[in-house]
Amino acid sequence: MTSPDFLVDLQLDTLPYPLAVMARDELICLLRTEWTATDYNWLEAMRGDYSGQLAITSVVVRRQGMPLATATIHFARLQPEVAVIGNVLTLRQHRDQGLASRVIEVALKLAWDAGCKVCLLGTARNPHNVYMHHGFAWENGMVMRCHFKAADFEQKCFTPGQSAVIRAAHWGDLPGLALLAAQPVATICLDYPRGLLSGRYLAAQRCLSNFPVLWYDTSARGGLLAVLAGPENSRVFGFGSVTLTANGTHPRTATVEFASHDHYAPHLPALLAHLLNDCREREVRQAEAKVAAGDEAKLACLSAAGFTVTARLPAALKLNNGPMDVIQLGRAL
Ligand SMILES: CC(C)(COP(=O)(O)OP(=O)(O)OC[C@H]1O[C@@H](n2cnc3c(N)ncnc32)[C@H](O)[C@@H]1OP(=O)(O)O)[C@@H](O)C(=O)NCCC(=O)NCCS
Repeated sequence: MTSPDFLVDLQLDTLPYPLAVMARDELICLLRTEWTATDYNWLEAMRGDYSGQLAITSVVVRRQGMPLATATIHFARLQPEVAVIGNVLTLRQHRDQGLASRVIEVALKLAWDAGCKVCLLGTARNPHNVYMHHGFAWENGMVMRCHFKAADFEQKCFTPGQSAVIRAAHWGDLPGLALLAAQPVATICLDYPRGLLSGRYLAAQRCLSNFPVLWYDTSARGGLLAVLAGPENSRVFGFGSVTLTANGTHPRTATVEFASHDHYAPHLPALLAHLLNDCREREVRQAEAKVAAGDEAKLACLSAAGFTVTARLPAALKLNNGPMDVIQLGRAL
């Protein structure tokens, strides 16, 4: 049987980051045919700024040297279990010829070969799309997932009682954090300042971009992103942040935020204590937090750490079931 003309003479390239300057320019030109930006800074990523802990590889399909389609796969370098695929694109005039399928296939094989057990992606195209041909199913909101191996991997990943440490986040946490954010955890707000909510209460809006949104915003505001993570693997059980408030004349103020998988809720007081220590090191005088009125466990954790209620913001959150108030708390440090 002969292949259709459009599948003849195709070359496939796998490009692990960091990329050489020419490969970088070529890939950015291809991405720019559709987007001016995606989830993370292309130049930083392609220069290798995130490559210490995060393996990023772009797959490119070409005909006669010309790049026509691409997909990028991400997984942790240390014991990868979760992959996230993104930046999937085919030049307009070459669509519907199976080119995206080719690059997706190769990208997924890279993840499989590295030992990943699940791959996630975020997409707005619902309900039918190219990813369904590759074993992906809709999970929640914009998130799709494909289990490579045992479908109970996620249960195992978040089994209670595993050892966990609190440390500063790094880019290798991107896939683990995407998986955590895809769990329908009881905590309503995963991160109030950036609007990340549990999929139990609102359809998921992010996948790959969860980590970059937290990382870029906390670092731009001179804060901290911390994770509760497996010490010897790439699992992320929780995360927390310190976000400095820009107010030149007042004593330094910071917003603290924290969330975990339900099975790791007993670690939340330690995570909060870590964030408050970080605030003190940054000479923050006043710590604030905003919590959904239904987040009793988080409210209790903050009260135990000396926070008191300073305001109630009516209907500040819009959840599937309707609006919910937000409680604002604060404490001097
Ligand atoms: C999505 C995209 C990469 C598909 O590329 P392609 O080379 O035409 O894909 P293939 O030929 O392998 O597969 C075609 C399938 O993609 C589906 N598709 C079209 N647009 C899509 C989209 N935005 N997202 C997902 N799937 C899409 C088609 O419906 C078709 O499905 P079918 O085979 O069941 O009919 C291409 O349409 C594109 O570059 N879109 C703009 C960028 C984009 O939206 N990327 C996805 C980000 S999640």
